[in-house]
Amino acid sequence: MLVEHNVSLQPLNSFGIAARAAAMVRVRTPGDVLAVLADAQLAAMPKFVLGGGSNIVLTGDLRALVLKNEIAGLRVLRQTARHTIVEAGAGELWHDLVRWSVVDMGLAGLENLALIPGTVGAAPVQNIGAYGVELRQRFHSLDAIDLRDGHTFTLHAAQCGFGYRDSVFKHKPGKEGDLGLAGRAMIVRVRLALPKAWRPELGYLDLSRKVQETGITHPTARQIHDWVVAIRRAKLPDPAHIGNAGSFFKNPTVTPEQCQDIIGRDPKVVHYPMPDGSFKLAAGWLIDACGWKGKTMGNAGVYDKQALVLVNRGGRAQPATGGEVMTLAKAIQTSVYERFGIRLEPEPVVV
Ligand code: EPU
Repeated sequence: MLVEHNVSLQPLNSFGIAARAAAMVRVRTPGDVLAVLADAQLAAMPKFVLGGGSNIVLTGDLRALVLKNEIAGLRVLRQTARHTIVEAGAGELWHDLVRWSVVDMGLAGLENLALIPGTVGAAPVQNIGAYGVELRQRFHSLDAIDLRDGHTFTLHAAQCGFGYRDSVFKHKPGKEGDLGLAGRAMIVRVRLALPKAWRPELGYLDLSRKVQETGITHPTARQIHDWVVAIRRAKLPDPAHIGNAGSFFKNPTVTPEQCQDIIGRDPKVVHYPMPDGSFKLAAGWLIDACGWKGKTMGNAGVYDKQALVLVNRGGRAQPATGGEVMTLAKAIQTSVYERFGIRLEPEPVVV
């Protein structure tokens, strides 16, 4: 186990924000975590688990030991009557798992989740979702290490508290009946259950448009994978070229009365009915309607093709600071609140 000190985190976060960590260990096996916990000095330091760094905003240096998850491995674990269970090391890139399962192995199930940045271990933390599918629909179980005492435990879907971009891994301990594992656990392996009786999920507008454009009414999983990759490339900035952390705010949920009130004033507001009777609004539309698309404050900006994505316009040389990103985010929140009475909630973890 190699301990690096005073480490630059700039290449390790997709926003490209400049910040340093007091120390970092690259975790390649679960044994590396146990070695950290067995070292009195390292064990005493606060820990911060880092995956692909694609869903964080660093607002300063980290006085912590960063555990950089690099646990590898992709394999078919077993077959059940209804599913193929695959297992991935938490340090694998999420898209490598998608491509391996859909393209190399011909296993359907993850195609709508193609090209989402970040690692496999980060996927359950925020219950990633895109184009009509959420991770929880394909999730089987995960193994994690408790960072307080080093014991390994397994969680099944019901224990993960999955919600929209949410799980027990984002919660502080305290809520009744909630494990509250924020900052306390490192995910080491994730297992997914890929359905043998697969049906394409084409309900999302961008995908039904592809069906119409191409005339392919019964696409394969591979075809959907390719469509999702093309849609994302056209709409979302590639962090390799322009720093960002994907959607910066969650899509807010409102009551039917609130929704009617907003429709009364802005008939074009993009809204989706939810199974519980509430409505989800497109935060990107709300931000766009307030005139933010393409705007810049300092070196932070609003992406010009998708107002829900904040970007680092300063590149690697003069990167936006976490403070600039948060100042822009607060200005957006204020204007959306003033116009629509809705409080937008940031989606990435602000550190
Ligand atoms: N819209 C605008 N202007 C904008 C942006 C969006 O009018 O600047 C409208 C679009 O025209 C569309 C609606 O808002 O009618 C929704 O936009 P889009 O389909 O791009 O999806 P989204 O709701 O903005 C969500 C996820 C994305 C995911 C896509 C596709 C959240 C917070 N974001 O975005 O996830 O890829 O749906 O499923 O739920 C992420 O979490 O980082 C992420 C990128």
